[in-house]
Amino acid sequence: MTYQTIIEPFRIHSVEPMRMTTPSERRSALEVAGYNLFALRAEDVLIDLLTDSGTGAMSRDQWAAIQHGDESYAGSPSWFRFLASVQELFPFPHVIPTHQGRAAEKILFNVIGGPGKVIPNNTHFDTTRANVEATGAEALDLVIAEGHDPAALHPFKGNMDLDRLGDLLARRRDDIPVVFVTITNNSGGGQPVSLANLRSVRALCDQYGVPLFLDACRFAENAWFIREREEGQGERDVADIVREIASLADGMTMSAKKDGMANIGGWLAMSDPDWAQRCREVLILTEGFPTYGGLAGRDLEAIAQGLHEVVDHDYLRYRIQSTAYLGEALHESGIPVVRPIGGHAVYIDARALLSHIEPLEYPGQALAIALYEAGGIRSCEIGTVMFGLHPDGTEVAAALDLVRLAIPRRTYTQSHIDFVIEVCRDVASRAKDLRGYRIVESPKALRHFTARFAPLAT
Ligand code: F0G
Repeated sequence: MTYQTIIEPFRIHSVEPMRMTTPSERRSALEVAGYNLFALRAEDVLIDLLTDSGTGAMSRDQWAAIQHGDESYAGSPSWFRFLASVQELFPFPHVIPTHQGRAAEKILFNVIGGPGKVIPNNTHFDTTRANVEATGAEALDLVIAEGHDPAALHPFKGNMDLDRLGDLLARRRDDIPVVFVTITNNSGGGQPVSLANLRSVRALCDQYGVPLFLDACRFAENAWFIREREEGQGERDVADIVREIASLADGMTMSAKKDGMANIGGWLAMSDPDWAQRCREVLILTEGFPTYGGLAGRDLEAIAQGLHEVVDHDYLRYRIQSTAYLGEALHESGIPVVRPIGGHAVYIDARALLSHIEPLEYPGQALAIALYEAGGIRSCEIGTVMFGLHPDGTEVAAALDLVRLAIPRRTYTQSHIDFVIEVCRDVASRAKDLRGYRIVESPKALRHFTARFAPLAT
């Protein structure tokens, strides 16, 4: 008998209180925050689905590993344990620890970016795009067409569009220092990339002599999708699939705050010794000595242990099924969500749900605010607020207006998620009453973090 109930393959070892608030407390918290959920005090949030980054629960064995943290400045045993764990999955000869993913991005693009250069990716995450553009280079998104259609049921909606990549390489090979593939494709709905697609991207890179790098934040979730969905992969060990993915690339950037199962950390890894040398020089200027990067020895230990745990099949089965549980429940309630459901998050199509709110009146922001007001749930707008403002100051509707419910790893139980489902259903039933917002204060770049909003009059 195969039972259907998804159970968490762990039990609770230490608990954290969650603070209940009243609707009127939440309304005043929203006013103080300028209707920007990033500006809330986390204590005023009941269920925090803002991000899955650095917000997960560590295991007993990770906390134990932290006690082994050796804080020697250079050559700490913790560094060697971290290095061995990384190289077991990603056998790149050069591994450069950083305090998180964007530090790895900044170092790499400082070395290989610059004006006139173009970096293709399936979809750049916002920090990746910002770090590419900060060097004067151009960041191009080349995900397959299905990746832009929330309802298109494609098993690997994160795949790179090979025709467009081939065309770009043919036209501008000399301007392309690297091709990137993001696994899973976060900005496109947490959608996976297939092994077949990665092999074809590799072949194109070989044809034009351009290196291939992975933005590998959610590599284990991507590998699990390959095991589940790709022909001939169903019997493989996930760690083995990860090693094959690594073998197709020349390097990677990584945020260990995701599939590193840690609260902080990241790395940059690569095969090329000259690039590695130049990256280490920048590392020493901005992060620290090459055997700790921006991290304490104890952080290196937590990541080393996390990398063993993240490729565990019971964990990944639960992780992917429990995210799908939330997404499918919303779908069955008639709430439009990006399908298939991604690995780390459920993305509600706010433009479809709130079709009476114009994109430039921020339907995603309106929905995220309503979910907080109704149930204390913090989510994240991924739409026109995040992507609508261009470097030349113009504002254009983003391709999609989504609200992401990101699931921290091993943190919430099924009853928490059942509560989230109930709140979403309630808000969706009142969708027509929600109003749009206007921005009253905004920085020039990455405005979603600090902009202030005001509700539009009805
Ligand atoms: N690449 C991807 C695909 C990401 O999702 C993130 C972070 C980064 C790079 C940067 O890593 O935060 O360690 O500097 N994503 C988080 C999120 C912030 O909420 O999706 P970082």
